Amino acid sequence: MPVETRIDEVRQQVDALSITTQTAHELMEQMCKLLHDRMLKYNWVGFYMLEPGSNPPMLVLGTFVGAMTPHTRIPVDQGICGAAAASGHTVVVDDVSKDSRYLACSLETKSEIVVPIFVHGKVVGEIDIDSHFPAAFSGEDKRFVQHCAEVVGKKLEKPAAR
Ligand code: SME
Repeated sequence: MPVETRIDEVRQQVDALSITTQTAHELMEQMCKLLHDRMLKYNWVGFYMLEPGSNPPMLVLGTFVGAMTPHTRIPVDQGICGAAAASGHTVVVDDVSKDSRYLACSLETKSEIVVPIFVHGKVVGEIDIDSHFPAAFSGEDKRFVQHCAEVVGKKLEKPAAR
């Protein structure tokens, strides 16, 4: 199946999840499973959320699918995860071995995308996806993962919306 077709199909399934799940946590859990199962190069899919009131600001590992990571708490001045949360911008790294910010999760990881999640205009967390393939995240992937982050942000804003 061409990648674009697969992304369109999975995007529709993501939109369906935003309606069928009761809570943001349930949405994030099912989204991790869906993306990990259906997107062939998405080998680790997880969420980091900003810990309320932490100083310095701290990202805390939430729900994820893939190998356990040593990075369960990441200060926002560290890692690719920290860079995305601190800047509020999507970070795509085609070759993690060439990025000095990279905090290693698995030796197999070759590329990574991190997309911030906004609630009422403020970063509250992010989706982090690692791939065993170099440069796995195209512009199409970036738009798709940004859509996933928006869906989670909306659910966090209006948890009871059905
Ligand atoms: N690679 C990330 C750390 C999280 S693990 O990939 C799950 C980073 O550099 O921030």
